[in-house]
Amino acid sequence: MSLLAAARDIRDKAYAPYSNFKVGVALRSTSGEVFVGVNVENAAYPEGTCAEAGAIAAMIAAGHTRIAEVAVIADAPVPVQPCGGCRQKLREFADDDVVVTMANLNGVEAQTTVGALLPGAFSKDQLET
Ligand code: THU
Repeated sequence: MSLLAAARDIRDKAYAPYSNFKVGVALRSTSGEVFVGVNVENAAYPEGTCAEAGAIAAMIAAGHTRIAEVAVIADAPVPVQPCGGCRQKLREFADDDVVVTMANLNGVEAQTTVGALLPGAFSKDQLET
């Protein structure tokens, strides 16, 4: 199954009763394993979490720290763009050249890279004094 197909399948399980905007993410770690996530909203709106955060958490819990590829899908008029916070979260575990496939349910796809999504990212290098 392709990464995008995995993202599309898991998207159905998203919990998004407030926005009705379900997002599915699948990422492949450099180990070759695929991890999926969905957005999980909350009655206290800011407590919701994005699909990217869920997939990253699953990868980390499995003991992996490097992302090789990402796919994100939602029912949007254009391929869904990872939000700003998710760009930063992905950048923590992915090199600039990691490909991010963005899609909608109508089969429209676009590809970019983590570096293009977040040029000049704040990273742990900058924490070193
Ligand atoms: N959302 C994601 O899960 N990932 C993104 O990158 C964009 C936004 C979710 C958050 C919220 O549950 C819903 O989409 C609407 O913003």
